[in-house]
Amino acid sequence: MKISIAIDGPAAAGKSTVAKKIAEILGYTYIDTGAMYRAFTWYCMENGVNCESEEECCALIPEVTIKLRPNGQVLCNDIDITREIREPRVSGNVSYIASYKDIRLFLVDQQRKMAAKHSVIMDGRDIGTYVLPDADVKIFQIASVETRAVRRYDENISKGIPCTLEEIENDVRKRDYIDSHRDFAPLKCAHDAITLDTSFMTVEEVVNAIIEIINKKLKEKEENNA
Ligand code: DC
Repeated sequence: MKISIAIDGPAAAGKSTVAKKIAEILGYTYIDTGAMYRAFTWYCMENGVNCESEEECCALIPEVTIKLRPNGQVLCNDIDITREIREPRVSGNVSYIASYKDIRLFLVDQQRKMAAKHSVIMDGRDIGTYVLPDADVKIFQIASVETRAVRRYDENISKGIPCTLEEIENDVRKRDYIDSHRDFAPLKCAHDAITLDTSFMTVEEVVNAIIEIINKKLKEKEENNA
């Protein structure tokens, strides 16, 4: 039986850190959908396209191939851009790219195909509401802006990506706004999702809490089907 777990929430809420660990523990495939929007953004920037021009960005769709490797590598047209997609210049533009309907349809199609093949834990903004509305378990992971900014700042510094805390906090606020106000598939909690405020939780606590929710939900489903 194929299982799908959706983890949505605002920027830098720690979704990918916990989703990766849960995927490892449960043996599911982890799919970082944000990395796909970031890869598309990187490609636009590499080609000198203005990320605020929907028309110019969408015109690149036929020439873009994005691959997520099981080891976490992100490839765009076979170029390894795992590190580049985390740079502040990409973070600062990705919300524009993610607001363009045709780019979303292009990437959502790939995300649904991956979920049809494997048991997945997929993180993003619209997984429970749009990409996988029938996901077995839906989590909406949140944390305060200040907590999220510190988490993302620490992550960037540990990866050697230069940034300031102020720059990160501004970026997080800007992305929250654009991601939740776009017309098509905005960031929103699904009506059947469980909200988890992780502001005062450690990574281990979040991982354990989500695994507990998954086990409970899957058991309930099994009982209902029996
Ligand atoms: O999770 P992240 O910060 O790597 O995501 C990068 C951007 O991509 C984020 O600002 C919103 C967008 N995104 C989206 O719109 N839908 C998704 N499913 C995943 C990410």
